[in-house]
Amino acid sequence: MFALTKLPDGFHDDPYPTYRALREDTPVCLQPDGSVILSRHQDLDIIYRDTTRFISDKKAVFGPKYGVDSPLFEHHTTSLVFNDPPLHSRVRKVMVGAMNPRALAQMEPGLIELVDALLDQMQAKGTVELIEDFAGAIPIEIIGNLLGIPRSEREPLREWSLAILGALEPQLTPEQEDWGNRAVREFKAFLRDIIDDRRADPRNPETDVLTRLIQDDTEGGLTEVELYQNCIFILNAGHETTTNLIGNALDLLDRHRDKRTELLVNPDLISTAVDEFLRLESPNQFGNRLTTEEVEFHGHVIPAGTDLHLCIGAANRDPRQFDFPDDMMLDRRPNKHHAFAGGPHTCVGLTLARMEGRVAVSRFLNRFPDYQITESAQRGGRIRFRGFAYLPAQV
Ligand code: HEM
Repeated sequence: MFALTKLPDGFHDDPYPTYRALREDTPVCLQPDGSVILSRHQDLDIIYRDTTRFISDKKAVFGPKYGVDSPLFEHHTTSLVFNDPPLHSRVRKVMVGAMNPRALAQMEPGLIELVDALLDQMQAKGTVELIEDFAGAIPIEIIGNLLGIPRSEREPLREWSLAILGALEPQLTPEQEDWGNRAVREFKAFLRDIIDDRRADPRNPETDVLTRLIQDDTEGGLTEVELYQNCIFILNAGHETTTNLIGNALDLLDRHRDKRTELLVNPDLISTAVDEFLRLESPNQFGNRLTTEEVEFHGHVIPAGTDLHLCIGAANRDPRQFDFPDDMMLDRRPNKHHAFAGGPHTCVGLTLARMEGRVAVSRFLNRFPDYQITESAQRGGRIRFRGFAYLPAQV
């Protein structure tokens, strides 16, 4: 029986045979700690939409995991993604407002300029590392701009994000836990000056997310802790996931040369192609919900208070939802994948992420149609977030 705490050999290189077995043979897979994995597309659909029986609050799970006095507990139980109304709706409204189509359209020219500058640098080098030189360098700028983080101060953000999101893995070593707690502490200290400056000197709330969060005039507004922890969440959420989208897409197009050619010949396919990359290699492979009452799936009764692991990676290849689910179809339509989850917690940054993916992948391909990833590529070694730690290539 599959256990998240005891992965089969080769899982990180190719988790899909394991996911297939889970989805087809044990769609309700009990874990040694009493939590349950669900992996069918329709089950995830039901769960994402029903926020009465399936809640996002994780205090009951994170208390024993991190200790209630720890920085990681404060962070992960205060960010909107692990909350239900009223905090969830309040923060979400502020964010959705800042991600309006006009604000996103205004970002596109800067994004193109940034991508082209990175391509120039890579062209000069010849041998590159696609995460550091490209995939990781794009979202950090975009999300840094969204919160108005000074450019010269962005460097530690990636390390902090890896440490804090990495602490969501099902099993942690004491070193990983320490690293995560330290990252939350340092991140808060880092934000202090930025938030004080923004209070004294607000920017245009139409486009500046931080000014919006500070000025939130909903009854009571955000507390200090809510403000800091949600800034941290936004910086992290928009960062590692998008890096993984771009890295995974370039890896897929390296392994499927016929698809690379198809995309070069038909560049208009890029929008549907990005969704196909997201479906096949979802940057976020697992989500969680907690049951508030007894529920039943496929004849199995799941008690109230059960932690559910929603396996997005398996659901996105469910043959009940997708024809030829393991094949890459660049023009796949419809493509109702769960890479951005679903229901009231659907990713707020999905339009921005798709835009980054489109611009990055299409311009990269145009510039380097014959790029080759070299043998020593290394996956990130995480269950929840799927991407590369190291992706060397010849361009
Ligand atoms: C390819 C890139 C991305 C992927 C795959 C992704 C995936 C997801 C997923 C699966 C969730 C839902 C988690 C859950 O409730 O279980 C989520 C939530 C969220 N994402 Fe993204 N994300 C991406 C990029 C971004 C970007 C660029 C931003 C911000 C600018 C962002 C901001 C958020 C926020 C704020 C939430 C919380 C929404 C809520 O709880 O209502 N994400 N994302």
